[in-house]
Amino acid sequence: MFATIYSIFFWIGFLAVVPYVALVIYGAYGCQEQDLKKKYNAQWALVTGGSSGIGAALVRKLASQKLNVVIAALDDALLKEFKTKIVEEYPNQEFRFVPCDLSSPTADYLESIKKSTEDIDIQILCNNAGFITTGCFADIAEKRNMANYHTNVTACLTLSHYFLNRMLDKGLKGLVTYTSSSAGFIPNPMGALNGLASTKDFLTTFAASIAAEHAEDGIDVLVIHPSPIDSNFYSNAGKMSALLSAQKISSPPSVVADTVCRNAGKVIVADQGIITVLMKIGLTKVLDWNVFTEIMKLAIPFNGDYKAMKVRREVKRD
Ligand SMILES: NC(=O)c1ccc[n+]([C@@H]2O[C@H](COP(=O)([O-])OP(=O)(O)OC[C@H]3O[C@@H](n4cnc5c(N)ncnc54)[C@H](OP(=O)(O)O)[C@@H]3O)[C@@H](O)[C@H]2O)c1
Repeated sequence: MFATIYSIFFWIGFLAVVPYVALVIYGAYGCQEQDLKKKYNAQWALVTGGSSGIGAALVRKLASQKLNVVIAALDDALLKEFKTKIVEEYPNQEFRFVPCDLSSPTADYLESIKKSTEDIDIQILCNNAGFITTGCFADIAEKRNMANYHTNVTACLTLSHYFLNRMLDKGLKGLVTYTSSSAGFIPNPMGALNGLASTKDFLTTFAASIAAEHAEDGIDVLVIHPSPIDSNFYSNAGKMSALLSAQKISSPPSVVADTVCRNAGKVIVADQGIITVLMKIGLTKVLDWNVFTEIMKLAIPFNGDYKAMKVRREVKRD
């Protein structure tokens, strides 16, 4: 009897972890760098949030493969600076810049992006722009919460729908990527919808669903869960201790761009780096998700960021 129960648990554990680890090893070590221009017979790519961090690394990687790139990002100093740099770095490639705000609830940016791309075929779409707002959902202004949601989710849906249809209309091969996050694996108090957790969880499930829908169309879908990456993401996030710790062990943005080039069309979900892999195994496979949420609820009163937020809230409500 004991031996049977032991054997059932052994096999459940084995099936939950071993195929996953095999897939991770294949993605990380079994896939060689691919020439995406050749693979998709493409000339143009579009990267959102391409002016800094992971987006800028994606632009550089694609340009190094002789692809021309459209960069859609906020109209700010970062974009101006990046414009000068990238044109100098890759003088033989063509770049188009679309200054736009992807947090618009009415998706105004789509018109500018359509105009800038009407004469070219975008066959590689990197849905990358995103940010985190830290704090408790109810304490953050509704406008800010929704801007975060629209940037992280709505813009990805709007652009994917538009460019997928353009590829399908012309029967073109292509690649659509989503920069998701391991934050989406678990509940993230102090960064729930307003931050990263649920928006990235949405992206992952959405990407995995459409990956299956387009598998026969020659359009690959890849969703990436980066381990901590050194970028402006952290400086824009506010001083939460969990984020400051993550930043200390961060890798350069180029590792994500390399993952995209190796994993495109090979796997659907790329868990990049050891932190993401350990988080997935430890917090979603070994520890049950429902149990984890209960532990989080019990533990949060001892969290320094949470305590500081409570003080701020009391001062505000007094
Ligand atoms: N860094 C990490 O550890 C990490 C881990 C997991 C997932 N991610 C995800 O990776 C993606 C890229 O982030 P990153 O780390 O490279 O951070 P980043 O350096 O701050 O880059 C974010 C990019 O998105 C752009 N952006 C933000 N809000 C926008 C808006 N409303 N409209 C248009 N563009 C907007 C930014 O423009 P500005 O620079 O002008 O603000 C920037 O180009 C994000 O989706 C993030 O959630 C990051």
